[in-house]
Amino acid sequence: MAGPRVVVTAGPTREWIDAVRFISNPSTGRMGFALARAFLERGVRVELLAGPTHLEAPARAQVARFETVEDLRRLLLDRYEGACAVVMAAAVGDWRPAHPMEGKWGKRGAGVATSLDLVATPDVLAELGRRKAAQFLVGFALETERLEERARAKMAEKNLDLVVANGPEAFGAGHTEVLLVDRSGGPAERLAGTKEEVARAIAARVFPTPFTG
Ligand code: CTP
Repeated sequence: MAGPRVVVTAGPTREWIDAVRFISNPSTGRMGFALARAFLERGVRVELLAGPTHLEAPARAQVARFETVEDLRRLLLDRYEGACAVVMAAAVGDWRPAHPMEGKWGKRGAGVATSLDLVATPDVLAELGRRKAAQFLVGFALETERLEERARAKMAEKNLDLVVANGPEAFGAGHTEVLLVDRSGGPAERLAGTKEEVARAIAARVFPTPFTG
């Protein structure tokens, strides 16, 4: 396939605490996978960066897998130049253990630690925003309150072109309700439907004209 290329990220990240435990979140990747299919339907080449998920990737997407935020960051930076758009649907964890253990963190013995030191992970999308050339950047905003205000703040802070805001009830659900804000200064747009329907509407915002070349 020739023509524009979009990079879509999907699913959760994992940050390992020890050999058998990690910090993650309930993302299933369904929205990101639906977006990948929606872009393919519009004739756009898709690179899908997928976290741990049971979903089957669309056959025509080029798929690469990540686990940690740092994996995701490297994959994205490799593919950023020349991409037409990046759609950051992945649920990226904000924290990782400061000192992951090599073996298993047992609960017996003297001096066993009972608290976990965390450090912030890099904000990958903000880094893409700082390095932006002509890429159209779509971020998601997971909010429990003041959706529109927080989405607009993230758009400005991370230098984004479009933000899709939703609440935590979107995790794992088949249906979703989102608020779209962009840089036009116009009012927010509310979309509701299955994740596949909402994904098609978002893809049409990014590429209003399907690519047939
Ligand atoms: N994101 C990212 N790197 C991070 C955290 C988030 O690239 N370390 C991306 C997400 O993929 C999403 C957007 O930034 O597209 C917003 O993520 P969200 O979790 O809503 O917000 P945060 O930026 O983490 O801010 P806060 O937790 O304070 O709401």
